[in-house]
Amino acid sequence: MMEFQPVAKRGIKVPKFSQVPKHIAIVMDGNGRWANKRGLPRVEGHKAGEAALLDVVAGAIEAGVSELSVFAFSTENWKRSPEEVRFLMGFNKEVLRDRRDQLNNWGVKVRWVGRRPKLWASVIDELEEAQRMTKKNKVLTLTMCVNYGSRIEIVDTVNEITQLVAKRKLKAGSITEKSFGKLLSTNPLKDVDLFVRSSGEKRMSNFLLWQSAYAELVFSEVLWPDFDRQELWRAIEQYSTRQRRFGAAIDSPKG
Ligand code: FPP
Repeated sequence: MMEFQPVAKRGIKVPKFSQVPKHIAIVMDGNGRWANKRGLPRVEGHKAGEAALLDVVAGAIEAGVSELSVFAFSTENWKRSPEEVRFLMGFNKEVLRDRRDQLNNWGVKVRWVGRRPKLWASVIDELEEAQRMTKKNKVLTLTMCVNYGSRIEIVDTVNEITQLVAKRKLKAGSITEKSFGKLLSTNPLKDVDLFVRSSGEKRMSNFLLWQSAYAELVFSEVLWPDFDRQELWRAIEQYSTRQRRFGAAIDSPKG
């Protein structure tokens, strides 16, 4: 197994950012292409993606980011070959077991969001164990999105609301954006400030859609296994040049 550097990487200084996003969401894309380019099977790319994830967590801590949410397995990933699905399930377990002490030492609070149906019970056990172990940590919250998809999350919530209304626990027509957000399974996940996707693909792929309504999007050409803290910092640098208006406007006819 590969050894990782401690949080600070020798000789690499964190840039001074004018604005640091509180919550970064990442679609860790490009593992399969990274492996196939090297004549390797796709799963070798996932294996190489572990180091990238750990380095990015370290870099996020150094930058002062407080929440990082990563797409580890989507509700659509079941369409992949049975071998790849089996590998990803086993690998999620392995990464959690091998890295939870390290993440705990770094002060990382691990949280799982996603659906229970279909997800391997042993994966849920590992996720819940990592959650238990790290629940008091405050440096950074790492939300592992495993068997997650935004549309189904929203639909699940709507179904829950209709049940609550049927049981007269909720008044029909009383839902607001705020109360709806609180009923989502991702709650209390904050709005995403910066949404990053690696590998040159420019899509959101059903990831944290509700929370990313006003997120700044940064697409990196780097394939996930080659992604590291410096690439994350480049994304933060792009973010810090953006002007966020949340629907408001600034009138400056003289430029
Ligand atoms: C997307 O690349 C990646 C995944 C579906 C899996 C994410 C897993 C990792 C980054 C490994 C890190 C470890 C864990 C367990 C969190 P892709 O397979 O879609 O690549 P492609 O677009 O090149 O085919």
